[in-house]
Amino acid sequence: MTPSRSADRGDDRSVAILFASCYGHTRRYADWLTEQLQATGCTVRLIDARAAEDPVGLLAGAEGILDVIIGLGGNYGGSVQGMGAFADAVRARPDARALFATVAWASPTQTETIRKLHEKAIPADIAPRVTAFHLRGGIDHPRLSLKHRTKMLALKTYLMSKPESARTEDDRETLQFWGQTKDFTDPAALEPIVAAALAE
Ligand SMILES: Cc1cc2nc3c(=O)[nH]c(=O)nc-3n(C[C@H](O)[C@H](O)[C@H](O)COP(=O)(O)O)c2cc1C
Repeated sequence: MTPSRSADRGDDRSVAILFASCYGHTRRYADWLTEQLQATGCTVRLIDARAAEDPVGLLAGAEGILDVIIGLGGNYGGSVQGMGAFADAVRARPDARALFATVAWASPTQTETIRKLHEKAIPADIAPRVTAFHLRGGIDHPRLSLKHRTKMLALKTYLMSKPESARTEDDRETLQFWGQTKDFTDPAALEPIVAAALAE
């Protein structure tokens, strides 16, 4: 059994943040979250799931207490970056609190879309342990890879085929900011995640 938090450690926590980001939105949230948690006295280990050779091994084998694992991943058509590494880390640390935030174009007001995304993306065996959040990212059209550009073009064709009255606000914004760099990231949006990480 891996060590867990003991009552005599006061309010300090040991937190691992595991993030996966293609164009930097999720990375920005991971950096802000690190700063915000460190400011409360937490010890934070920040792990880039795409860059680390063995992100899960870093946690599974790590000595010492780990109170909270926070996963952050960008959503690419329902495929959430870093979810596999997060799930393995949660399985490897059965005593840690598990939080996951999806980062996407979708506005947090799209609650049903987000509920379905979380339901589909979070593996069933860890879902009961995971508190899920959603953060708004952005889009960086000029920097998109050819593969991502092609996928986005298919989305544009679909959105253009929708009657205007059937388009959601997110749909309208997708078309409005087409070809541009649009960033909705906001450090204040992390407040509920910080609160959940620090909750008793
Ligand atoms: C190919 C592609 C597919 C995407 N699919 C979705 C999607 O299904 N829903 C959504 O809300 N956002 C979607 N997005 C937007 C990303 O989730 C958004 O850009 C996010 O901020 C990416 O975070 P990152 O830069 O950290 O990877 C998509 C973006 C791209 C390029």
